[in-house]
Amino acid sequence: MGEYQIALLPGDGIGPEVIREAVRVLEAVGSRCGHTFTQGTYLVGGAATDACGVPYPPETASGLKSADAILLGAVGGPKWDDFPVHLRPEKGLLQMRQDLGLYANLRPAALRPALQSACPLRAETAARGFDIMLVRELTGGIYFGKRDRFQTPDRGEVASDLLEYSELEIERIGRRAFELAMLRRKNLISVDKANVLESSRLWRSVMHRLSRAYPEVQYSDMYVDNAAMQLIRDPAAFDVIVTENMFGDILSDEASMITGSIGLLPSASMGETAPALYEPIHGSAPDIAGQDKANPVAAILSVAMMLQYSLGLPNEAQAIERAVDRVLEAGYRTADMAGGSEIVGTAKMGDMVAAYLA
Ligand code: IPM
Ligand code: MG
Repeated sequence: MGEYQIALLPGDGIGPEVIREAVRVLEAVGSRCGHTFTQGTYLVGGAATDACGVPYPPETASGLKSADAILLGAVGGPKWDDFPVHLRPEKGLLQMRQDLGLYANLRPAALRPALQSACPLRAETAARGFDIMLVRELTGGIYFGKRDRFQTPDRGEVASDLLEYSELEIERIGRRAFELAMLRRKNLISVDKANVLESSRLWRSVMHRLSRAYPEVQYSDMYVDNAAMQLIRDPAAFDVIVTENMFGDILSDEASMITGSIGLLPSASMGETAPALYEPIHGSAPDIAGQDKANPVAAILSVAMMLQYSLGLPNEAQAIERAVDRVLEAGYRTADMAGGSEIVGTAKMGDMVAAYLA
């Protein structure tokens, strides 16, 4: 029986609705297992820009640091699209990742048994199933490199974004990936573009050096374009994938889609010290915000990851996973998921998971 301090960042769009259901499930775990989850709510993203004038306010930054774990909904929306870069919701998320040193982003993509028919891949591919852990570098590369925009006399306007990686940044994310592989099926594929990019050539050489320290892990390299293809051709061939920031952003959306819906995938972002951040990988989906249509499963599974990785409660995490599977097996689906026998709204889906937990 433990007492834990959880920081909630509902954010924008469907963020608040899915976090509401995730918290409901967290509380169901609390009352079932005797844990207390004290919650503090903070502003981030467009909601923060509206209320405080910046997307990652100082009160949020200091509040988060005293929490045991952070649960985030989503940020962004058309309302802020024309705001200057430093006021955009996404900037708040990036500042938070950097401020908390959350360089390791874990994005598990597994085909849940009940959703085999929702998988858009060929039936025989779906029947083999898959269980992938994508490890994305989160605080480096082109997301954080120097940006520039200037006029030239002969070529018109020029814009540039620098993709830079240091050995240290590559090594620490590489270690995380090898360690995770050791806990899983001991297979690691590092995704890069070493046939073109210098940063990828450094990435590859650091990974090769690390691989010698993990002889039990079957290691290989793959170019990112090939990885995008192999993910839909034969996802069962992947166990752990490690890749740089932008490749990971793109490949994780692809990986989510083959699980049946982008509304299913959770993520964990961690650094060397607490707290870690847990969030669904889907965005703020402004088109369906506030309509009770969003899928809360990714946020609920993010709670499961939080219990497992930050709070040391693997049994409770598994109980949530099982409850989600049982709700799906019973035929309940939100509108984004194919198949099933009954379409339910966000709140009902959260209710069902909480009920199957108890
Ligand atoms: C993600 C999102 C973010 C990213 C955006 C909202 C900045 O797409 O977490 O995958 O690109 O990292
Ligand atoms: Mg993304």
